[in-house]
Amino acid sequence: MEKRHVGFDLTIYEGEEALPIADRELLKKARSATSGAYAPYSGFRVGAALLLQSGEVIIGSNQENASFPSGLCAERVAVFQKGARFPEGLIEVLAVVALSPGNHLKTPAAPCGNCRQSLLEYEHRQKNPIRILLQADSGRVYECPSVSALLPLGFDQSYLDSRF
Ligand code: THU
Repeated sequence: MEKRHVGFDLTIYEGEEALPIADRELLKKARSATSGAYAPYSGFRVGAALLLQSGEVIIGSNQENASFPSGLCAERVAVFQKGARFPEGLIEVLAVVALSPGNHLKTPAAPCGNCRQSLLEYEHRQKNPIRILLQADSGRVYECPSVSALLPLGFDQSYLDSRF
């Protein structure tokens, strides 16, 4: 029998002032991307901003649908756009800002399981970790070192085919 630890160290900033300017700028872009959210059902507006190594920033926001499962989270809107427009581009950082209907949310919202799964494949493809910054209505910022930290024991191509 063996027990293996698969957790990670979450970095918590009580305010964004402690972050480097580039991270603050990216969070600002994620916050501004919430204005594109289409969230008539949940009222929960989420913005995502991906910083590529080239300096390009790609944004996304959640897009809901009357048939609920047909909607998509901000993170996947952003990362699929990256895949389509910059297939060779390397993602360095993902910033996500989630605004609750009453703007009272203080705890940064973490990406859902489906988004973690999608993001993980981009991280594996580029063979470089994607740092993740999360913030809610205001204040506290969570920093995660990679997608694989957020999704330990994640499912990937290696299970499907011995070629990988
Ligand atoms: N949502 C995101 O866009 N990203 C997340 O990380 C969590 C949830 C969206 C999906 C849906 O439009 C709304 O927030 C409520 O779940």
